[in-house]
Amino acid sequence: MEKDIINKIIRNRKSVYPKDYSKKEIPKKLIEEVLINANHAPTHRLTQPWFFKVYEKSSKEKLCWLISQIDSSKYSPTKIQKYIDKINQSDTVISVFMNRDKQNRLPEWEEIAAVSMAVQNMWLTCYANNIGCYLSTPGFKDEYGKLIGLEENERSLGFFFMGSFDHKESKKNRDDINAKVEWI
Ligand SMILES: Cc1cc2nc3c(=O)[nH]c(=O)nc-3n(C[C@H](O)[C@H](O)[C@H](O)COP(=O)(O)O)c2cc1C
Repeated sequence: MEKDIINKIIRNRKSVYPKDYSKKEIPKKLIEEVLINANHAPTHRLTQPWFFKVYEKSSKEKLCWLISQIDSSKYSPTKIQKYIDKINQSDTVISVFMNRDKQNRLPEWEEIAAVSMAVQNMWLTCYANNIGCYLSTPGFKDEYGKLIGLEENERSLGFFFMGSFDHKESKKNRDDINAKVEWI
């Protein structure tokens, strides 16, 4: 039975964008669950290189303000405004960070991979709870990191947008797995 459930969740998970979110509030308890599941991701040497900032309801204003401070010579005001609109259409935006092990015991890619797995846990939890979500990785994420004063070993990896959404089963656009596997 559990096997069927996990297959369904993994195979139906998809990106849902802010324009499609409903106004229904996401309960705080559910956001906490999403974060707890992020924290269960695999992590080499238990470095647990993820951390998050949660912008919800009224604190989204703070994120909008930060994004409005991005250098407009590199990103057009229209692009920035569109991003702010997406934040406003969402219930919650979780900013995703990597905190690299200070002794650099692991290659950076392993730490990024661990954070990515945390994000996948968040994505699957959202799907299972009728929350639409997606990971956005805008070019200005490093500049945002500077604006909030990240330390040298810390890096902003993207923004996880969330809003209520009634999921229905949908077809996935993926190439045939057999073309990507060699059975030895
Ligand atoms: C590392 C990563 C970064 C992504 N960044 C963006 C992004 O900046 N903007 C965007 O619209 N989607 C982004 N996505 C979502 C992908 O576009 C989406 O996963 C892809 O279209 C497949 O659709 P699905 O998630 O519904 O299966 C990102 C996904 C991943 C894994």
